[in-house]
Amino acid sequence: MTKSVEMQYYEIVENSNSIILRMDTKGDVTFFNRYAQSFFGYRQEEILGKNVIGTIVAPADSSGRDLKAMIDDMAMHPAEYVENKNENMLRSGERVWIAWTNKAVLDKDGRVKEIICIGNNITKLKQAEEEILKAKEAAESANKAKSSFLANMSHELRTPLNAIIGFSELMKDESVGAINEKQKEYLGYVWESGKHLLSLINDILDLSKVEAGKMELELSEFDLRELFKKSLMFVSDRAARKAVTLLTDINENVGLIRADERKIKQVIFNLVSNSMKFTLDGGKIGIQAEKTEENEILVCVWDTGIGIEAKDASKIFSEFEQITSDYSRQYAGTGLGLPLSKKFIELHGGRMWFESEGKDKGSRFYFTLPLNRV
Ligand SMILES: Nc1ncnc2c1ncn2[C@@H]1O[C@H](COP(=O)(O)OP(=O)(O)O)[C@@H](O)[C@H]1O
Ligand SMILES: [Mg+2]
Repeated sequence: MTKSVEMQYYEIVENSNSIILRMDTKGDVTFFNRYAQSFFGYRQEEILGKNVIGTIVAPADSSGRDLKAMIDDMAMHPAEYVENKNENMLRSGERVWIAWTNKAVLDKDGRVKEIICIGNNITKLKQAEEEILKAKEAAESANKAKSSFLANMSHELRTPLNAIIGFSELMKDESVGAINEKQKEYLGYVWESGKHLLSLINDILDLSKVEAGKMELELSEFDLRELFKKSLMFVSDRAARKAVTLLTDINENVGLIRADERKIKQVIFNLVSNSMKFTLDGGKIGIQAEKTEENEILVCVWDTGIGIEAKDASKIFSEFEQITSDYSRQYAGTGLGLPLSKKFIELHGGRMWFESEGKDKGSRFYFTLPLNRV
């Protein structure tokens, strides 16, 4: 014998694993399926005709949100509650979170007569969400604390180092008396290491300052061409030793720019020294620059070096990340140069990115500096 259509619908509604209920525009329950009964803990006869407020909906949720107002509003503007997540209440008083889909049933004049609500329990999901949010907030505030600690420590870290660097230099240069060759050599190491440590500390402090939102640009007008020249001069000794050719291609339309000179210098210096570090003897390194139609300066520092494989691309601008290869392992570094450079460029309203066709195919690092923004 085939079941009546009515029977089939009845079975679907009563056997479903979702809460299915109907309420009128006042919020009085007119239907409550079997799952709703076992979930909330009310038998049908206990809930029918009762208002949802005070039974399955508390007047206000745990955060103080006025749920009575929400139910009233739902009857007026059902379209705004088609999908709605809110806190509900079991008979025991326990609070749960339900994801509802609500559908208004209209009378023949088009007025809302009833609302059909289908709900699923998302309490666990909601708790997980809240925990993630809390963990995120905790991590963010720890990170902020770290950054401001470092920003405040800058003086304490630099002062003793400046003494080490300054006095070892005076001694190794025999400004305060003659020394023997061994003493000279060792003082040279003290001086070199001190300088290395200072530049490392400076990078860390700069990065913290940017992260703490305390890094400010010191703008002035200067000639970019001069800066490129100086940056290449800085590495010309090493280039000669490695038989690396240095090439510049600066368009005539590049000249004066208003920016933070010290920071732009640091960026170019980072890029050029990376190229020098990752280019084998006999290779080429170059700087290209031009003014684009978007009224920005586009700079490219390129090399014919070891290149960057696609799988390593995401590490390039991440703090403390270095690509490990037999080649790069021979070189000291911190993995701070590029993240810091990128941040400096972004502070100027520019962008930084790179291109490489892969291992041993060389690299091209680009950045832009808008001319009208700063
Ligand atoms: N020109 C380049 N060619 C190949 N790899 C590069 C180049 N520049 C940077 N890299 C890779 O990106 C990493 C991060 O660079 P950077 O942030 O400047 O740190 P560091 O120079 O201290 O290693 C480098 O360790 C290297 O693996
Ligand atoms: Mg570097």
